[in-house]
Amino acid sequence: MKTARDERVSEAEIAVHWQEEEYYQPPVPFIKQANLADPAIYERFAPERFPACFAEYAELLDWYRRWDTVLDSSHPPFWRWFVGGRLNASYNCIDRHLARFKNKAALHFVPEPEDEPIHHVTYQELSYRVNEFATLLREVARVKKGDRVTLHLPMVAELPIAMLACARIGAIHSQVFSGYSAKSLADRIIDAGSSVLITMDAYYRGGRLLDHKAGADQAVELAENGGQRIEKVLVWERYPGRYSSKAPLVEGRDCLVNEMLKGYHGCRVKPEESAAEDPLFLMYTSGTTGRPKGCQHSTGGYLSYVTGTAKYVEDIHPEDVYWCMADIGWITGHSYIVYGPLALAASVVIYEGLPTWPDAGRPWRIAQELDVNIFHTSPTAIRGLRRAGPDEPAKYDYHFKLMTTVGEAIEPEVWRWYHDVVGKGEAVIVDTWWQTETGGFLTSTMPAIHPMKPGSTGPAMPGIYPVILDDEGREIPEGSGRAGNICISNPWPGCFQTIWKDPGRFVAQYYARYCRDPESTDWRDWPYMSGDGAMQGEDGYYRILGRIDDVINVAGHRLGAKEIESAALSVAEVAEAAVVPVADEIKGRMPELYVSLKPGFTPGEDVRQRVTAAVTAEIGPFARPKQVIMVPDMPKTRSGKIMRRVLAALSNGEDPGDVTTLANPEVVEEIRQIRNALSG
Ligand code: WTA
Repeated sequence: MKTARDERVSEAEIAVHWQEEEYYQPPVPFIKQANLADPAIYERFAPERFPACFAEYAELLDWYRRWDTVLDSSHPPFWRWFVGGRLNASYNCIDRHLARFKNKAALHFVPEPEDEPIHHVTYQELSYRVNEFATLLREVARVKKGDRVTLHLPMVAELPIAMLACARIGAIHSQVFSGYSAKSLADRIIDAGSSVLITMDAYYRGGRLLDHKAGADQAVELAENGGQRIEKVLVWERYPGRYSSKAPLVEGRDCLVNEMLKGYHGCRVKPEESAAEDPLFLMYTSGTTGRPKGCQHSTGGYLSYVTGTAKYVEDIHPEDVYWCMADIGWITGHSYIVYGPLALAASVVIYEGLPTWPDAGRPWRIAQELDVNIFHTSPTAIRGLRRAGPDEPAKYDYHFKLMTTVGEAIEPEVWRWYHDVVGKGEAVIVDTWWQTETGGFLTSTMPAIHPMKPGSTGPAMPGIYPVILDDEGREIPEGSGRAGNICISNPWPGCFQTIWKDPGRFVAQYYARYCRDPESTDWRDWPYMSGDGAMQGEDGYYRILGRIDDVINVAGHRLGAKEIESAALSVAEVAEAAVVPVADEIKGRMPELYVSLKPGFTPGEDVRQRVTAAVTAEIGPFARPKQVIMVPDMPKTRSGKIMRRVLAALSNGEDPGDVTTLANPEVVEEIRQIRNALSG
């Protein structure tokens, strides 16, 4: 019997089946200097010490008032961490470092054009800039504690400055990835209920100065049609004093930030003493339905968790120069470019543009010039750099002590190139598995404690107790190598608090399926469902197989199948659309889109192009389908449901299995031939 679940796209089903791999030992010089080389941490975070063990992370921060209760779990699954504690995130990332590190670089902003100088922002200067901008937020934009401020900023120093300024006054920031379209930005403005938008006139990408402000104008209009009015648009200038957008400034609504800041020179704002449970930010991510989810992260629990994990897993010391190539518009950037590293007083590199611009040697020149020693990126970027310049790293004199990979599974062959060529055999690699929702790492090797195994992430983090469940909720035996749905059996401080304005959906999507008793107030009855398939090897290392829901992980970015399909359906001729993940050499997975047309229309290049254009306009260029395939009909069950699983098999050259129970089994062969003809 087929269940509803069989109809979903499962990336786990099309996961690559890897062999067991050899271990790599961490280099001795790394172990000698590591923040954590003592395995006793796993005893300190043993199950019987839960939840008190997590105070170890909270103690890395400065608190105005210490918490009374480490974990209040009386209203599952709405966990409250460090209850009674008061702190400020911007204080922890800036002010407390000034006594020792005021003259040390907090940020190194590297513009994409190579002839533009790198801007080095010291902690002292960061303090000035955050305080001045926080004053402007209060006085010009009238932002108050608890207000949501939407940011649509590219990878520039002004992005962390704006985030920290919001945090300073207790406002909740919601940074929307700069590659998102005006439509996606508007949806997020509406959902968050923001009346202030922070943007920039222009930024560089791939050698071009892109006009960014025009998108903000469109988004403001769309948001207003959707019932959310933006009162103020704060526009930073990529070149202060030289407005670089063609979009005019709207009188009374738009402010040129650089110009206005002249009036706030030296202004300071006392940091808001936020409760540990006050939200720090929203980060939107794709889910199984079309609407993006605003993951709400707390101040105290979140900041403690990212600081602890950045210190131990990324081995950040104040002396380190740290470069994470992710975009701050994703959770990786929030946790492991801004909050974790700055709370640890690192020097953080922010690179504006494409890693391969003007050539594939660029990242290694940046690493050489700034003496970067911790490097963080995704398998997609590694595959891209390997293809574009396999011999480039050897040409530059840089030395990484630690490198990370995150966002998707890495193929062992790619891992080895990363280790041998990028890391020159000197660097430890950590493969960290986690999600927007989880705030920080869930599984990873501890770099000075465990050997590395290409393609596996490693054991669970201290204090994290995963369990792999089958579809009926039975536990798959530990270390059995059998795949199932990976869940976390206990709460942890980094976990998101809820979905913004939608606690029902929060419970339904992450807890309902495996909850043992909805009446229970014992956290043990409420495992967190990640939505990923995984297996655990005999050595305790987890291997992540991919999503089990309708979410497609493209180049490490999560896209909802429904979001892409509804964009395709906005093209007048399209009757039905179904998207599936297809393996791609560089991006890991890409969406492949099947569409059928309404009666009377004939397939053609024109419709195909308009479907692609609709997806890029609605979501953004990074969601562009690898192919749009026009089919006479979709494979359907007798009850009329589209069988994406069958399409996914066809797209990936796999056997779709028994299709005789479909309403229209003959269409499967027809689709196969159409697709083969397209792919040549
Ligand atoms: C996938 C990014 C394999 C996974 C931090 C997860 C991974 C989704 C890994 C979250 C990894 C993340 N190995 N797969 N090391 N890290 N994933 O929310 O499917 O953008 O559910 O957070 O990426 O993506 P998100």
